[in-house]
Amino acid sequence: MRIGVISAMPEEVQSILDVLKNVKITKKGMRSYYEGTFYNKEIVVVFSRWGKVAAAVTTTQLINDYKVDEIIFTGVAGALSSDLNVGDIVIGEKLFQHDMDTRPLFDRFEIPLLGKTYFKTQQNVQLESAVTSFTNTIENSISKVVLQEFKISKPKVVQGSVLSGDQFIASKEKVAELLKAIPSAQCVEMEGAAVAQVCFEYEIPFSIVRIISDSANDEAPIDFPKFTKSVACKYAKGILKNYIK
Ligand code: ADE
Repeated sequence: MRIGVISAMPEEVQSILDVLKNVKITKKGMRSYYEGTFYNKEIVVVFSRWGKVAAAVTTTQLINDYKVDEIIFTGVAGALSSDLNVGDIVIGEKLFQHDMDTRPLFDRFEIPLLGKTYFKTQQNVQLESAVTSFTNTIENSISKVVLQEFKISKPKVVQGSVLSGDQFIASKEKVAELLKAIPSAQCVEMEGAAVAQVCFEYEIPFSIVRIISDSANDEAPIDFPKFTKSVACKYAKGILKNYIK
């Protein structure tokens, strides 16, 4: 069993590399694929790069050249649900490409030739418990000072729809429009549904965890580089460790 790990942030990849053993690096198509053992389990980790096309290319190469049995995606996302705050976690169930619109040929969001408006992730109870045990012991991974800085106390964990598109969303109007079209939407990002489509086409089980980094509106942005380095990386590494152990 070999797990493919795709991260949306190079810093997340680096935090996994910090503990990856027997590392073999190969470079293809501007991407570096790191094969190795993570807590005694074989994994291959790679930075997705940003946007749907980049993520689809990375995923296709990961599946074809590295023979992974399942793929887990980690990264940050903007909240769409008003219940979610910075530091909360979304485990994706349905992945939509929110900028796919070929009306009147097909329905809004429908992926041509596949007859699907969303892709489902694999049922993954182990991932749910990996996430919950991470949030229950978050203070072992992230200092109190950093948690306070980002106003994170007890992160919420929700399961639901993840929307992907080639846009950084930063307006209340766009958030309202997306929620009206897809009421089950929890968060928005730029890669997940592309990875999900490739996994569907190649019949590879797929899971996704997204950490809320912002509210996808015009509120004062957080210190993104700091959030990624001191919060999101710790989530990705901690959740993956719990999942694999
Ligand atoms: N990733 C993190 N925040 C995002 C946002 N607001 N829109 C798109 N992708 C994101």
